[in-house]
Amino acid sequence: MECSWKTVLLLVCASLGVQYTAIRTLRDSLSGPCQGAYRCHSRRHGEPLSLCDDGWMSAESPRKHILVFATTRSGSSFTGQLLNQHPEVFYVFEPLYHVQQAFTNSSSRIRRTLDRRALLGAYRDLLLNLYTCDLHFMENYIRPEPQDHVTTSFFRRSSSHALCSPPVCSEEEAAGSSDLPDESWCPRRCGALNLSLASVSCLSKRLVAVKTVRIPEVGDLRTLTEDPRLDLKILHLVRDPRAILASRMTAFSDQFRAWKIWNVTGRQPRYVDLSQITSTCNDMAASAETGLQGPAWLHGRYLLVRYEDLALHPETKATEIYRFVGLEMDRRVRTWISKNTNSNASAQADWNYRYSTARDSRATAENWRLRLGFDVVRKIQILCNHTLALLGYKLVQSAAELRNLSASLVENKTFQPLTW
Ligand SMILES: *[C@@H]1O[C@H](CO)[C@@H](O)[C@H](O)[C@H]1NC(C)=O
Ligand SMILES: *[C@@H]1O[C@H](CO)[C@@H](O)[C@H](O)[C@H]1NC(C)=O
Ligand SMILES: *[C@@H]1O[C@H](CO)[C@@H](O)[C@H](O)[C@H]1NC(C)=O
Ligand SMILES: *[C@@H]1O[C@H](CO)[C@@H](O)[C@H](O)[C@H]1NC(C)=O
Ligand SMILES: *[C@@H]1O[C@H](CO)[C@@H](O)[C@H](O)[C@H]1NC(C)=O
Ligand SMILES: *[C@@H]1O[C@H](CO)[C@@H](O)[C@H](O)[C@H]1NC(C)=O
Ligand SMILES: *[C@@H]1O[C@H](CO)[C@@H](O)[C@H](O)[C@H]1NC(C)=O
Repeated sequence: MECSWKTVLLLVCASLGVQYTAIRTLRDSLSGPCQGAYRCHSRRHGEPLSLCDDGWMSAESPRKHILVFATTRSGSSFTGQLLNQHPEVFYVFEPLYHVQQAFTNSSSRIRRTLDRRALLGAYRDLLLNLYTCDLHFMENYIRPEPQDHVTTSFFRRSSSHALCSPPVCSEEEAAGSSDLPDESWCPRRCGALNLSLASVSCLSKRLVAVKTVRIPEVGDLRTLTEDPRLDLKILHLVRDPRAILASRMTAFSDQFRAWKIWNVTGRQPRYVDLSQITSTCNDMAASAETGLQGPAWLHGRYLLVRYEDLALHPETKATEIYRFVGLEMDRRVRTWISKNTNSNASAQADWNYRYSTARDSRATAENWRLRLGFDVVRKIQILCNHTLALLGYKLVQSAAELRNLSASLVENKTFQPLTW
C-alpha cells in the first residue's frame, strides 16, 4: 500500500478550541512505507488525515506508555531512572521543558494569547507525538532549531539510556554511565542527536516512559488516557510537601532567599512567596483525589506512589511499579536499585549534583526534618493541612518532635482507588 508522507503534522490545542498550528512537511520518512505509522493527527479536527489508510492509524499501539507525573523535587528523577534502567524502555526526561522554553521566548503577541490551557494543549500534543515515537515533532520546540533533524540541544539527553546507546549512538554505553552526575557525557561520546534515529530506537522498544513536572493536575491528562492510539498509565509520584520545600530551598537557592532567611530567623519576611508551595499542595491533593475516586477513564491506569515508600522499601515498591507498568523487573533494574539505595559513602561523594537522584534513599527520605526550622514547618502544615492528611504525613507540634527522627512522620497507608 502506498503511503504518502508528503503530509502535514498538526500541532493542535483542539480540545480547548485554542489552536496553534504548525504545519511541517515530513521530509524523510522512517525506514519504509508505514513504518511506525502512529503519527499524531487530531481526531477532533474534522476529517482525519488519510495517512496509511490500511487501518494502521486506528490500530492499537502495541507499545505501552507511562507518564511519571510529579512535581519539582518530589523524587521524580529517581523514579524515572528506575524505569530508564529497563532495556525495553524508551525514556525521556522532561521533554515539556522545550515547549515551555519556546513559548516563554516567543514573541509577545503569541504570549499574550497564550493562556494556561493553551500551554497544556501544546504539552499534551507533544506527549502524544512522543508516545507514538515521532521525535521529529520536538523540532517545533527545540531551540536553536535542529538542522537536518539533528540537534545538540536536547534537554537532559544524558538521562536516557536509549538516546545514548545504539542505534542512536554508535558507541555502546559504558556501564553505569547514565548514573554519572555530569550531564555532558552523552553528547561527548555520541555527538549530536539524530532525531530520526531516536524515532527508530523508540519504535523498537516496548514501553515509552516520560517524566514531567509540568502538568498541574491528573485531570489535564484525561484526553490522553482516552486516546485509542495510546495505552497510557499514570504513575503519580507524591512527596511530603515539607520535604519538597526543603529540597527546593537547597536546589534553587537564589529563588528561595526569603525562605532561607525565614528558616534561620524563625520570622516570616513580608515578601516571602507562599503561592508556589500552596499550589503544589493543592494540585497534588486534587490529583490524588481524582485518582483515588477511580473514575472510569483512569481505570487500571493510575498508581499513587509516595516517594518516601519508594525510598524506604525500594525493592517492594519498584516491584509494584513494574507490575503496574506491565514489565518484568530486569536484572539491570535490580542492580541499579541496590547501587542507588544503599548507604555508600564513596558513591555519595560523587553526588553533589543539583539534580541527582537520591544516592542513599533511606537516609534522604526524612532528612528534611533536620533542614527546616520549626516556624517554616508550622506554616506549611497550615497551608497544606489537607494534603498532608490525605497522603498520610503526620504533623509535628514542636521543634523537638520535628527533630526526633526515631519517630517517622510517614504513616502506614495504602492507596487503592475506591471503585476498582
Ligand atoms: C530564551 O531566551 C533566553 C534569554 O534571551 C536565552 O538565554 C535562552 O537560551 C532562550 N531559550 C531558548 C530555548 O531559546
Ligand atoms: C540521521 O539518521 C537517518 C536515519 O538513519 C539518516 O538517514 C540521516 O542521514 C542521519 N542524518 C544525519 C545528519 O546524519
Ligand atoms: C559503593 O560505591 C563504590 C563506587 O561507586 C562501588 O565500587 C562499591 O561497590 C559500592 N559499595 C556498595 C556496598 O554498594
Ligand atoms: C534551615 O535552618 C536550619 C537551622 O534551624 C539549618 O540547619 C538549615 O541548614 C537551614 N536550611 C536551609 C535550607 O537553609
Ligand atoms: C485544614 O485547615 C482548615 C482551616 O484551618 C480547616 O478548616 C480544615 O478542617 C483543616 N483540614 C484538615 C484535613 O485538617
Ligand atoms: C523520640 O521518639 C521516640 C518514638 O516515638 C520516643 O520514644 C522518644 O522518647 C522521643 N525522643 C525524644 C527526645 O522526644
Ligand atoms: C507500619 O508498617 C511496618 C512495616 O510494614 C510495621 O513494621 C509497623 O509496625 C507499621 N506501623 C504501624 C503504626 O502500623
